[in-house]
Amino acid sequence: MADIILGIESSCDDTSAAVISDGYLLSNVIASQAVHKAFGGVVPELASRAHELNIVPVVQQALGQAGVKPSELTAIAFTRGPGLLGSLLVGTSFAKSLSIALDIPTVDVNHLQGHVLANFIRQPGVPVREPSFPYLCLLVSGGNSQIVKVNDPLDFEILGQTIDDAVGEAFDKCSKMMGLGYPGGPVIDKLAKEGDPNRFKFAKPHIPGLDYSFSGIKTSLLYFVRDEMIKDSHFMENNKEDICASFQKCLIDILMDKLVKAARQTGIKDITIGGGVSANSGLRARIEEEGRKRGWNTFLPELKFTTDNAAMIAIAGYFHYKAGHRSPLDAAPVSRMADY
Ligand code: KG4
Repeated sequence: MADIILGIESSCDDTSAAVISDGYLLSNVIASQAVHKAFGGVVPELASRAHELNIVPVVQQALGQAGVKPSELTAIAFTRGPGLLGSLLVGTSFAKSLSIALDIPTVDVNHLQGHVLANFIRQPGVPVREPSFPYLCLLVSGGNSQIVKVNDPLDFEILGQTIDDAVGEAFDKCSKMMGLGYPGGPVIDKLAKEGDPNRFKFAKPHIPGLDYSFSGIKTSLLYFVRDEMIKDSHFMENNKEDICASFQKCLIDILMDKLVKAARQTGIKDITIGGGVSANSGLRARIEEEGRKRGWNTFLPELKFTTDNAAMIAIAGYFHYKAGHRSPLDAAPVSRMADY
């Protein structure tokens, strides 16, 4: 009999449910929350309320699209953290309640592990192409920037990580500062395509080892725009494409310098990316380009699996389930998780 896993993701502002059968994705439904746009960032209280409204219809839709009855489910995988506590509480409580009603186990999943394993989501009719272990994952999202060595689906080593802001935060905060809206990553990505990436230079951090820092570049951009606006009040409006392209290039250079170093140090040639920022077209092109130059085997998750989604939680849950892991009923959501 197939192992059919229902995945539930509610760590931030997307309510998502997915069904996978023996590792193959049958459905992946995502309800995004537009309510935060007006505030220029996610409002935690509004996010948890929206999750409460969305969770039942999203799960129903995921089961319906998969053609799976609740009674056919083997286990429920849910995001336990990291994320917003109120948001996590909705998915966690729902997963536990449904598991009691169906008398099936739950498996708790680290959200970041989901991002790192996104390349293992198999889809019916799509040829399977997966990295070999150990591989490196550049995990870049709104809350994290890490280089992870993945020894097997459940054994992760963090080789380097940000010591302050995440790269997604740099995209979002700088976009807000430039009056371009939220979330900043997609807007900057789009404008950058029209601009000259070499026109402006921003200060790069000097951080030892494989760690990152993104708070300095934010300040560098802030002072640059402020000084230019004193000279020309239309500077921002007239140059936004070039500013975005140059700023994005600087972020990608910072990410790539350390990734190249990590690949060299470990001798690993299977390289993946994951997390919301891995949707960035500039970063995707650059990984491919470096890969060709350095003989890497690069694996880029499909765009729909880069931002928050339950398919990645379901696949991570599937690996945990196969390893015999089960979640106790008192497993509480956690906003921060020290390790994988
Ligand atoms: O992984 P994610 O959906 O949520 C978590 O942080 O877990 O990532 C969201 C982040 C945001 O900072 C958003 O601006 C960024 O991913 N993002 C992008 C792009 N699409 C989303 N950043 C750069 N380029 C994009 N195309």
